[in-house]
Amino acid sequence: MRVLVTGGAGFIGSEIVRSLTSAGHEAVVLDALLPSAHGHAVHRAAGDTDGRMLVGDVRDRAAVDRALHGVDAVCHQAAMVGLGKDFADAPEYVGCNDLGTAVLLAAMAGAGVRSLVLAGSMVVYGEGRYSCPRHGTVRPGPRDRSDLSAGRFEPRCPDCGAALAPGLVAEDAPTDPRNVYAATKLAQEHLASSWARATGGSAVSLRYHNVYGPGMPRDTPYAGVASFFRSALARGEAPRVFEDGGQRRDFIHVRDVAAANTVALEAVGSRAPGGFAAYNTGSGEPHTIGEMAGALAAAHGGPAPVVTGEFRLGDVRHVTADSRRLREELGWRPEVGFAEGMADFAAAPLREAGAALPV
Ligand SMILES: NC(=O)c1ccc[n+]([C@@H]2O[C@H](COP(=O)([O-])OP(=O)(O)OC[C@H]3O[C@@H](n4cnc5c(N)ncnc54)[C@H](O)[C@@H]3O)[C@@H](O)[C@H]2O)c1
Ligand SMILES: [Zn+2]
Repeated sequence: MRVLVTGGAGFIGSEIVRSLTSAGHEAVVLDALLPSAHGHAVHRAAGDTDGRMLVGDVRDRAAVDRALHGVDAVCHQAAMVGLGKDFADAPEYVGCNDLGTAVLLAAMAGAGVRSLVLAGSMVVYGEGRYSCPRHGTVRPGPRDRSDLSAGRFEPRCPDCGAALAPGLVAEDAPTDPRNVYAATKLAQEHLASSWARATGGSAVSLRYHNVYGPGMPRDTPYAGVASFFRSALARGEAPRVFEDGGQRRDFIHVRDVAAANTVALEAVGSRAPGGFAAYNTGSGEPHTIGEMAGALAAAHGGPAPVVTGEFRLGDVRHVTADSRRLREELGWRPEVGFAEGMADFAAAPLREAGAALPV
């Protein structure tokens, strides 16, 4: 199968290219090499790579048409990621992520490409699933600044104020995007679903949890928490853990995410036409941010993390995936355990801004 991997020069996309190639498929990359992801010095170097790498923007219909030539399926990873600097970034996020997806899907409709696997995200769920001893499953709203400032980090039952137990979020949980990035990731899914219905195509969204591993970009306003901690350790500084470190997440290794994309691409063409399905993509083994910082620091040989009590409004307290559906329906299994993955990541190089990536 010949697969177009948009964003294939990025952290996850480049691992998908490796996974596809080793499974005997052919990968073509379309990547704009955004300065926010790659720094400014990258363009010339990447332009020298061979024909599998096309430098171009998914918002550019002519570039997408060229990239789709002879392609059987599309794996859409290109996006601006992270929280960004401030709200002024919103048009750029919506442009890359949603306009870009619309242009890509229109070009796929024109070229008769009917199979799509999309990089989704757990951010579409907002605050995760909780249960109250009296009210069962409840959905707490955003946390107040006054609570966070006073060190009250746990969301409370919206009906009775009781302490809540966090649980696993399944794919049928209501969506609740809490920031611009999350809104663009949800809109991508709605566009993919509309495209599938309108064209008889088939679309799968893999809602990744917190992905980490070699090649993760160095800390920028666009990077994830594992990268912040790893970058601090590389500078000889202690990882700074926000809140009290008790935030629960599911950290999934980039190789497992890449393997999930390969199995989804192999399956998507034989799904019912016109359909859209979302799959949570997590390790199934929740850990707190504090545990993650501790494991990474220990594997790196210190310094030990510092819990700062700082917070970011808009961060969710706990969100952890139930990834059973992906295991059961697509036969995928995560293979990199938490301890092994963190030890490997503590020693692995991060992606330098400005460095061209091999694809
Ligand atoms: N890293 C995570 O933990 C995580 C979690 C959930 C979802 N995701 C999703 O996974 C995908 C890949 O993310 P990543 O972590 O590898 O980020 P990344 O920044 O390393 O990779 C994204 C790539 O897309 C490219 N790109 C961005 N906008 C583009 C455009 N308009 N045209 C062409 N190329 C463009 C960038 O140059 C970059 O190479 C994204 O869709 C992201 O939303 C990532
Ligand atoms: Zn209650």
